[in-house]
Amino acid sequence: MAEDFRRKIAIIGLGRVGSVLARLISESPHQFLGGFSRRPSRAEDALSRIGTGRLLEPGAVGEADVVIISVPDSKIGQVAGDLSSLSLPYGNMTFIHCSGSLGREVLEALEAKGAQTGVFHPLFPFIEFEFSLENVRGSYVAIEGPEWLFDFAKDLGFLPFPAPSKKELYHLGAVYSSGLLLALLSFSMEIADELKIPREAYLKLAEAALRGSFEFDLSKAITGPWKRGDEEVIKKHLEVSRDPALYLRLLERIRKILGKD
Ligand SMILES: NC(=O)c1ccc[n+]([C@@H]2O[C@H](COP(=O)([O-])OP(=O)(O)OC[C@H]3O[C@@H](n4cnc5c(N)ncnc54)[C@H](OP(=O)(O)O)[C@@H]3O)[C@@H](O)[C@H]2O)c1
Repeated sequence: MAEDFRRKIAIIGLGRVGSVLARLISESPHQFLGGFSRRPSRAEDALSRIGTGRLLEPGAVGEADVVIISVPDSKIGQVAGDLSSLSLPYGNMTFIHCSGSLGREVLEALEAKGAQTGVFHPLFPFIEFEFSLENVRGSYVAIEGPEWLFDFAKDLGFLPFPAPSKKELYHLGAVYSSGLLLALLSFSMEIADELKIPREAYLKLAEAALRGSFEFDLSKAITGPWKRGDEEVIKKHLEVSRDPALYLRLLERIRKILGKD
């Protein structure tokens, strides 16, 4: 990689996403300079976990070519506004945020100052630092902004694709694939606990079912009584179901996928 393409990065918001991106950057050809959070003590803790970088004063982010703003979605606009009131070399800088539900417009105060702006939304559940580091590489990331962000994403181990403009719909797809999927699994966990069988038995089943959906069309990957026409089994499920209305809604969906509605 040519020296010109080694970016110097600062991160504002060294939380779940920011800390992991910082470590990925430090293990890439790019340089993580440091950053800050709302509370300096939390940022210091994060920097020691990351293992490199220093606590920056807001004015010092001007040393960076790229500033990643990984604060809660509701704070991105405010942080962008605060940054735009500093005296930074905006024309040489790019500011990106990590939200899947917001576009580049939320950074318009910085764009008005001559900075480039972008979005870098990793499709990964940043649950905990070590877990994320072990599993995040190979995840997809939705990108909006300058073309070089795609190569930057690859340098960090991500699979980049252009972020869709329909943000609400795009983000809904993401939560169906993560939080809402796990909400469904919570029913299995409750049943496992009640029957005193290992939760992992159901989790392994879920893992295999999901793996099947990578290899086969959903109409083939879906197994169960609806596929075999075992209506009696379905009736018995409904008798013991924690939420029969939800079961029926999902059954309707399954029948549609199987072409049996
Ligand atoms: N979590 C995920 O799985 C995930 C996945 C993809 C994208 N994202 C996106 O990534 C972004 C960050 O999410 P996260 O989960 O990393 O949040 P998080 O763990 O709550 O971390 C947020 C960080 O922002 C800091 N912060 C809050 N307000 C600030 C301010 N005004 N100025 C400076 N720093 C501030 C917090 O500081 P303190 O520590 O001092 O409170 C914390 O370090 C969001 O846009 C989110 O939508 C999250």
